[in-house]
Amino acid sequence: MSETSPKLRAVLDGIPTYKPGKPAAAGGPVAYKLSSNENPYPPLPGVLEDVIAAAGNFNRYPDMACTGLMNELANRFGVPVSHLATGTGSVGVAQSLLQATSGPGDEVIYAWRSFEAYPIITRISGATAVEVPLTAGDVHDLDAMADAITERTRLIFVCNPNNPTGTAVRRAELERFLDRVPSDVLVVLDEAYREFVRDEDVPDGIELYRSRPNVAVLRTFSKAYGLAGLRVGFAVAHEPVAAALRKTAVPFGVSQLAQDAAVASLRAEDELLGRVGSLVCERKRVYEALVDQGWTVPDTQANFVWMRLGERTADFAAACEKAGVVVRPFAGEGLRVTIGEDEANDIFLHTAQAFLKEL
Ligand SMILES: Cc1ncc(COP(=O)(O)O)c(C=O)c1O
Repeated sequence: MSETSPKLRAVLDGIPTYKPGKPAAAGGPVAYKLSSNENPYPPLPGVLEDVIAAAGNFNRYPDMACTGLMNELANRFGVPVSHLATGTGSVGVAQSLLQATSGPGDEVIYAWRSFEAYPIITRISGATAVEVPLTAGDVHDLDAMADAITERTRLIFVCNPNNPTGTAVRRAELERFLDRVPSDVLVVLDEAYREFVRDEDVPDGIELYRSRPNVAVLRTFSKAYGLAGLRVGFAVAHEPVAAALRKTAVPFGVSQLAQDAAVASLRAEDELLGRVGSLVCERKRVYEALVDQGWTVPDTQANFVWMRLGERTADFAAACEKAGVVVRPFAGEGLRVTIGEDEANDIFLHTAQAFLKEL
């Protein structure tokens, strides 16, 4: 038997495996997970019933074309079905976008720090990642991103609001940026947290996409709609981008459970968005309490807050965990804390107050 292992692509060397948010500790006194930007509310009864009904047929493949969901989305967003593509979470669709546009020799631009999956999926595609630092205020530096475009650029991610800082770019600056991007470069507006945006100057990417064939919008059912565990997201994009996405998608990637839950969630949107409204109120409470305590926290339009703690990040994360809330540290940089259950947010705020006294 040969000792040689199968040859793997050299591009995989050094690419980290995606790191999920840490789960809440089992068996602790109270343990809340504020590390993955999930929705703390359990599924709505009606949505759960539809999923249970779909589960009775899981010996069958799902509808590969996601017909029911596509029709529902087309109506909800006023777009043609041919401009939609679904995937296993919006990260699955993002990976398809890279497969469709970028390979060795190409460049992909995104802000940094931003969503952790961007460097991973970019490097897996073989393309070169061009990371443009956020401004001092932790916002996308769109001028610098436009300056970074070369003839090799194929795709640009704009995460709006940005994960993990929660900051959002506004209409005028985004339009100015889009005007500078050549029409053969795809701009992906990743709007995973769109439903939490309350600043009216932050544009809805779907409105921008309508008049710009090189803009694609990513949305997900994982956050506001509370379906993170079912894995379903989608893109709105013009032809031929949407058609390419349907080609590159993993066949049958979206389960029937996920499709039926997504349709039921869109039909129960009023109730779900009511819950989002409560989370936005909690976000305001947490943000204002942190500012009152003396922390510098960037304005957030998402379901989390960002604290740039530098070298104190790991210590603060450990203090939170000890108190019963698991947060998301980025070593040496800062901490992202999801807005969760009111009690979880209280524990976090008490910990922040106590930590500040120790500094
Ligand atoms: C900015 C952003 N985009 C995409 C995703 C992926 O979400 P999903 O694959 O669950 O749709 C996330 C999840 O954390 C995110 O923060």
